[in-house]
Amino acid sequence: MRVLVTGGAGYIGSHTVLALLANDIDVLVLDNFSNSYPQVLKRLEHLSEKKVPYVEGDILDVPFLEKVFAEHEIDAVIHFAGFKAVGESVEKPLKYYNNNITGTINLLEVMAKANVKNIVFSSSATVYGMTNPVPFKEEMPTSATNPYGYTKVVIERMINDVAASDPEWTVTNLRYFNPIGADKSGDIGELPSGIPNNLMPYITQVAIKKRDHLSVFGDDYDTPDGTGVRDYIHVVDLANGHVQALEKNMAEKGSKTYNLGTGKGVSVLDLVHTFEAVNGVKIPYEIVDRRPGDIATCYADVTKAKEELGWEAELSLEDMVRDSWNWQQKNPNGYEDSSDGSSN
Ligand code: WQD
Repeated sequence: MRVLVTGGAGYIGSHTVLALLANDIDVLVLDNFSNSYPQVLKRLEHLSEKKVPYVEGDILDVPFLEKVFAEHEIDAVIHFAGFKAVGESVEKPLKYYNNNITGTINLLEVMAKANVKNIVFSSSATVYGMTNPVPFKEEMPTSATNPYGYTKVVIERMINDVAASDPEWTVTNLRYFNPIGADKSGDIGELPSGIPNNLMPYITQVAIKKRDHLSVFGDDYDTPDGTGVRDYIHVVDLANGHVQALEKNMAEKGSKTYNLGTGKGVSVLDLVHTFEAVNGVKIPYEIVDRRPGDIATCYADVTKAKEELGWEAELSLEDMVRDSWNWQQKNPNGYEDSSDGSSN
């Protein structure tokens, strides 16, 4: 079986490519490298000891997409390609609606024409919005508080409607909670461009003294220590969840949605203190105002993925902070560090 992995050079995409290869599933990566690096694919070849073929191009380029499906035998698609910065989506909503939604429409139309009717979509816990009670369950209503979140809500709906219109389609939406960590090799990992929006990469950049201190966005939430609570999941567990979702997707038609989380809530200060204890690195921080749009608490009900996919997260918070630190230490300047296959 060969899977087209759009955005396969990205943080979650690259870890999923590694998991697919480890399960003897062939891949073809599609990426425009707008927020990733060709170097990642060289490292994936080094880690997997397998070829990682790729095509460079954009999901907004329909002739390019048509050429990919005409020239390659593709059985299924795992669709990561998309912009994902919440703040930027507020400043540039049309950039997000066009790239994420129009790009996905293009992909679905070209897939249908090529009679490839199997897709796993990279969705996000952000679709649970601000009003659902925790733990979040897949059947809860979806909404969003920013254009990025709305693109995920709309794309989930689009994909489900395509499956409802044609029984030949099998589609799966995977709602990620907060992915952190890195492959244990430390050769691939999360590499935000500019100032990190997300907590974990900000912590690791403080740890390598690239940033002076961490700003903790509020300690007056209704949570045990007042700081925001999230469901952090190791990116390797998340990647393995895609393999099991793909296998289910190939076996059963129709549309399915699963939370990929641990089911446990961890506060900002919990994460900081765990990072310090495991890695022996002090993380200076300052409590500042809340970040607009943040919710107090977000964590998953993980029953459905366990019952229907036979999947559950296995790696601990200690594994997550250890592997995040290992990646950052080995790659203080990201992927520019070396031209060979590994970061050694
Ligand atoms: C986690 C916690 C912050 C940074 C976002 C997207 C979501 C998904 C994951 C793409 C919160 C606090 C953060 C900092 C802090 N992205 N924080 N100081 O907001 O839960 O989710 O990223 O799919 O869609 O919404 O993740 O890592 O930004 O924040 O105190 O410098 O850390 O307030 O409580 P979030 P995050």
